[in-house]
Amino acid sequence: SLPSPPYPGEFTQCLREKLPSELIYEQSSSSFTDVLASSIKNPRFFTNATTRPLCIVTPTDAQHVQAAVLCGRRHGVRLRVRSGGHDYEGLSYRSPRPNEVFGVLDLANLRSVSVNRSESTAWVESGATLGELYYAIAKNNSELAFPAGECPTVGVGGQFSGGGIGMMMRKYGLSIDNVLDAKMVNANGDLLDRDVMGGDLFWAIRGGGGESFGVVLSWKIQLVQVPPTVTVFSIGKTLDQGAIDILTTWQLVGPSLPDDLAIRVKVQGQEALFLAMYLGTCSSLVATMGRRFPELGMTSADCRSMTWLESAALSFTTLANIGTPEEVLLNRTGGMSFSFKVKSDYVRRPISKAGWNDIFSWFTMNGSASGYIMLEPHGGFMDSVPADATPYPHRNGVLYIIQYLVFWPGDGGTALTAAWLDGFYGFMGQHVSTNPREAYVNFRDLDIGQNVVVDDVSTFDGGVVWGQRYFMGNYRRLATVKAAVDPTDYFRNEQSIPPLL
Ligand code: FDA
Repeated sequence: SLPSPPYPGEFTQCLREKLPSELIYEQSSSSFTDVLASSIKNPRFFTNATTRPLCIVTPTDAQHVQAAVLCGRRHGVRLRVRSGGHDYEGLSYRSPRPNEVFGVLDLANLRSVSVNRSESTAWVESGATLGELYYAIAKNNSELAFPAGECPTVGVGGQFSGGGIGMMMRKYGLSIDNVLDAKMVNANGDLLDRDVMGGDLFWAIRGGGGESFGVVLSWKIQLVQVPPTVTVFSIGKTLDQGAIDILTTWQLVGPSLPDDLAIRVKVQGQEALFLAMYLGTCSSLVATMGRRFPELGMTSADCRSMTWLESAALSFTTLANIGTPEEVLLNRTGGMSFSFKVKSDYVRRPISKAGWNDIFSWFTMNGSASGYIMLEPHGGFMDSVPADATPYPHRNGVLYIIQYLVFWPGDGGTALTAAWLDGFYGFMGQHVSTNPREAYVNFRDLDIGQNVVVDDVSTFDGGVVWGQRYFMGNYRRLATVKAAVDPTDYFRNEQSIPPLL
């Protein structure tokens, strides 16, 4: 186990001996705050009360990562790993425990993307953003792409570790369904690839959540085909325009449409906004919609045709930003103006029309908070993957995932908005999956449970509730892998996989 108590002075001394000094930012460094803030998205985890790291290490190669892990283990200091910094609970750069002494390994310098055109594969380093990945692929070959999330500043490292849902999952699955190999540093400081790590660990790092098994440095991915032109639309329907009937129908149609069409829905206030991305032309989209989903009344006037990369620059469906240059995908900083809190659910049985009536009434009665829900259809490829093929178990039978989001300005004001979200989430319990009430690990939510640490090791039982909600039957296998590769629980956060010893 780790030396206890931690020896912070010895730890930083060890780092200074093993790493170039310009890669280490201690709290006393004038750049420390800027480096810490560089990829924070949520100001509620960047306040004077936030427990900050002792230091931030910004490695530029694998050996630096290996050295930092060995220093951490020798001197009793844990490392939190940060790729894109988008963790919804900020676990990659802050500790919820006031006295924790920890370092941050920030992978922002490890962000190369190298595309192998003849193989239609690429190696991408964890510190790259999705935007950088999409840009590098499409500039190499505009008919290749990769299925991952909608927001371009999300980091590859965290996103792939937890699954990676997005507008192409109905056709090509999650990001992790397209990972061929990976390089990582384990808790002994060893550098592993797929062959060396073996099947169980390779299974676990593709969806078992970040931080539990080591530091994934890079991923070899299978690129996927996209046509020269894709078509997107955004159609809003208010209650008066039949939002409830159309939404009720969408629940079964959305997951069973041809898999090159994804229609997600943003529900806010009195409106349902249908946002689509289709891997094809406007005329064939209009024909499909007329045949399969005439209730929406979509016509060719709704079509916006563009390249796949241009659609990525619009986060696939934010049509208000049409004309945004593709280079926006290379912008890593997204600002920190709004705090937010997120929760998730999965729906396996369609919500009745009466149920949607109640949901909209709930918005009317409690409408003051700036919250909304986003519904993303599964089905298609997602149905074909067995629940235990990867740690992400929400496959066959899931109609759609719900993401609940609430925003507020600045870093204060949590009470009202959090109460709004809690109330809504509680109300929705009757409509969503049960036993367990499923949740998506990448939409991290500490309200559903946190690790219990006994003798400096997280307990299996302490993680059961949140673990089964994220991973269902895969939680136990994840804990078995953890016991084999990190029995002393070096890589740990509040929702890392506990070792089943
Ligand atoms: P960050 O660096 O904060 O890491 C997240 C977790 O993974 C932490 O526990 C961290 O320690 C660990 N980790 C990071 N890098 C690691 C590495 N290299 N090795 C081991 N562990 C590592 N999701 C989705 O599926 N589809 C979507 O469309 C979106 N959209 C979206 C938009 C916005 C604005 C946000 C804030 C988030 C999303 N997400 C999402 C959720 C996102 O996938 C999730 O937050 C990811 O964990 C973010 O990855 P980062 O690398 O940015 O996070």
